[in-house]
Amino acid sequence: MTQDELKALVGQAALQYVRPDSLVGVGTGSTVDKFIDALAASGLRIAGAVSSSNRSTERMKALGIRVLEAGEVDSLPVYIDGADEIDGQGFMIKGGGAALTREKIVADLAQTFVCIADASKLVGTLGRFPLPVEIIPMAAAQLTRRFAKLGGEARLRAGVVTDNGGHILDVTGLSITDPLAFETEVNQWPGVVTVGVFARHKAQVCLLGGADGVRTLTF
Ligand code: 5RP
Repeated sequence: MTQDELKALVGQAALQYVRPDSLVGVGTGSTVDKFIDALAASGLRIAGAVSSSNRSTERMKALGIRVLEAGEVDSLPVYIDGADEIDGQGFMIKGGGAALTREKIVADLAQTFVCIADASKLVGTLGRFPLPVEIIPMAAAQLTRRFAKLGGEARLRAGVVTDNGGHILDVTGLSITDPLAFETEVNQWPGVVTVGVFARHKAQVCLLGGADGVRTLTF
């Protein structure tokens, strides 16, 4: 199976976590695009979706899915999103699509985070994928120096402005052995809007697509 087919497989499998007439949080990315397509095609009636990006909002609206603002809901039963890396405990790196801040906000509303990913995303230790960090632009040089002290090399993602008007640093060379401690530390640095380590908002379930079909990991 191609990677695209694996993404479609887990996007379809995620439908089992969407309850009829309830709300769903929807992430961002090529895997989530497959979930959105599957949701629209399923005919499943939902109360509405809370979106983590303008990209997903536009896709859902075009397919007739009702989209609510985050501020209109108190909580969500489930949040479906992809990941750039996920480890054996459900900790993730996210933000490859620059939507990490809104993704964390929507994940924070959700009772269950269901990660959908192809098997290439499963890692032993987070950090091989360049860590996305949304920042306030004036802090870029200062934050680059801070990451260098941790052994990381931060590069500004050229030409990218997030849905919130922020910039993205991509940090290579990190080995994130304690995701909770790392997220807590980097969150304190002035100028950081959101760090792309999802440890406090980790996945409870991961639907992993591989040659043998969909494997369900629970954490
Ligand atoms: C976007 C994300 C995505 O979930 C992550 O980049 C995975 O994307 P894809 O499904 O296209 O591989 O965090 O900010």
